[in-house]
Amino acid sequence: MSSVVAPAVDKKHAKPRLDGSASRAEQLLIRFHQIRNFTTALCANLEPEDCVVQSMPDVSPTKWHLAHTTWFFETFILKKWMPGYRAEIPEYAFLFNSYYNAAGAMHRRDLRGLISRPTVKEARRYRSSIDLHIDNLLSIADEKLLAEIEPILILGMHHEQQHQELLITDIKHVFSQNPLHPVFRERKIEETPAQTMPIRFVDFEETTVEIGHDGRGFAYDNESPRHRVLVSAFSLASRPVTNGEYIGFIEDNGYARTELWLSLGWMTVSEQGWQAPLYWTKRDGKWWNFTLSGFRPVDEDEPVTHVSYFEADAYANWAGARLPTEFEWERAAFDCSMEGNFVEGETFHPQPATQQVGSLSTKAGKTPILLQMFGDIWEWTRSAYAPYPGYRAAPGALGEYNGKFMCNQYVLRGGSCATSQTHIRRTYRNFFQPEKRWQFTGIRLARDLR
Ligand SMILES: [Fe+2]
Repeated sequence: MSSVVAPAVDKKHAKPRLDGSASRAEQLLIRFHQIRNFTTALCANLEPEDCVVQSMPDVSPTKWHLAHTTWFFETFILKKWMPGYRAEIPEYAFLFNSYYNAAGAMHRRDLRGLISRPTVKEARRYRSSIDLHIDNLLSIADEKLLAEIEPILILGMHHEQQHQELLITDIKHVFSQNPLHPVFRERKIEETPAQTMPIRFVDFEETTVEIGHDGRGFAYDNESPRHRVLVSAFSLASRPVTNGEYIGFIEDNGYARTELWLSLGWMTVSEQGWQAPLYWTKRDGKWWNFTLSGFRPVDEDEPVTHVSYFEADAYANWAGARLPTEFEWERAAFDCSMEGNFVEGETFHPQPATQQVGSLSTKAGKTPILLQMFGDIWEWTRSAYAPYPGYRAAPGALGEYNGKFMCNQYVLRGGSCATSQTHIRRTYRNFFQPEKRWQFTGIRLARDLR
């Protein structure tokens, strides 16, 4: 990946500070450009032909991600606050709106791959043009205006980080369809292959915990209001389930045993003919998987990934366990450092759980007890994605960001190898429908303690 360097900010209207420190507007612009440049850097090895393919309805072409994240800043900042702003190409509002009904009509999501114009080059030009307008707006904004713009600009940056992750998982799906097995990034080979730590179960006593964001720093609205939850005694696995352990489930006929599956899960497995996680293929009696570094044998020490909620739940049943609730997970994560295998590490794949990996939990600074709570894989919880008590979606288009999806989805926690470390929190609630498999989703087991 090419390095990410913030470009010089257009300071023609900037008001220099006497002490030489960066003003709030300058700090925001530096962060804005770092994030925008990282999106560009992720595309460094992609050809225009790679950037236009939509391999399934859930996948968006890279070009669409580049333009849609730009549309967000144009729609929610420039159109509202830039004096005299007029969109250069008004039709982009239709093409690059994703799901915000209050922002106007939109193109069909499943047909994004049919849009050959604007070209990739033009989408990049659109990005540069909007970036320049944002530079200029922040340069002329007084304190009052800056205070209004800042929360939306920060939301736009987090939105772009979410799309960086989608860009990665989407291009993985696109490349997986290609018999040439294109490589997104070459794999960094470790000198000594890492062996995963043995799994243990860590006990937690019953207690009442504060769940949700405490109001310090940025959070999405779905992490609030903070509220108290009684969490009964439970036990949590010290690390996620590995590929080797998951192969045990496959070889024990797990995909064919109805008693292990939720009814809807069984229907899905039967319809889809699933026999293994997404991207797995059996060759000469051995499992192989497609990765962002190409096609290679399944490493049994790595955490299993690209499994649906249905598979995670069936595996947990088979293992005599269950999935944790999101409240159990958040309670356990309270002591965990947020180090981990994130997108900044450029592995683009989950790594084996060793003592050296981050997101350790220690009690009184002693031996690490929980590994990989953050990074590597999103962990399915058994919690339905629902509003916290007292939650109200904000009025207007941005109120559509999270609230309207609180139906028929499950919460995932902890971030993955495609998530930015600066994007994740202990209270972060990701969510997907139970049949989805194209994100880096995995399994951590829990048990009741009675
Ligand atoms: Fe979006």
